[in-house]
Amino acid sequence: MNSDKKSLVIYFSHTGENYMKDGIRNINKGNTEVVAEFIRKITNCDLFKIEPLKSYPYNYSECCNVAKEELNNNRRPELVNYLDNIDNYDVIYVGNPVWWGYPPMVIYTQLEKLNWDGKIVMPFTTHEGSGLANSVSEIKKIALGADVKEGLAIFGSDVNNSKSIIENWIKQNNML
Ligand SMILES: Cc1cc2nc3c(=O)[nH]c(=O)nc-3n(C[C@H](O)[C@H](O)[C@H](O)COP(=O)(O)O)c2cc1C
Repeated sequence: MNSDKKSLVIYFSHTGENYMKDGIRNINKGNTEVVAEFIRKITNCDLFKIEPLKSYPYNYSECCNVAKEELNNNRRPELVNYLDNIDNYDVIYVGNPVWWGYPPMVIYTQLEKLNWDGKIVMPFTTHEGSGLANSVSEIKKIALGADVKEGLAIFGSDVNNSKSIIENWIKQNNML
């Protein structure tokens, strides 16, 4: 099913070691990326993947330390590529893992560069217990003038089984 609304997913997703229900595991494709790709299948939207210029560490605890330092110091890490505008889109899905209760700071770097006026925003997270945490409230602070819809939170360990939940969320918000 394809949407008549022009949609884009902006997301960040980390690969490497991650903490899952059954302990620390290596993942080759990030959980948030799995969700982003389901949204693309469902809505036929475009994807923009946020990539930090300096990659986050592969090692889980090192990555946690870097993430905490960036959050505590309100950093805006540089990106490989920047999306300059979202003029051609009606609906922007914004996806991130929850890191220390917040979106990773690279999300702020990208979102703050855009003009959100008149856009519809569909926020989603993957997490291991915190749900949406502060993601939606943080996105609302940045996406001024946008209609930010109710967010969707998916357990990282469940992403591969989440297609119907994602589809329902999109339909409930009349985005198809
Ligand atoms: C640095 C770091 C911090 C995290 N902090 C939280 C957290 O505060 N709450 C939570 O539920 N999960 C937390 N997690 C788990 C991730 O949100 C979860 O595994 C997510 O699905 C990862 O998505 P990704 O594979 O797309 O990066 C954290 C993971 C990392 C690496």
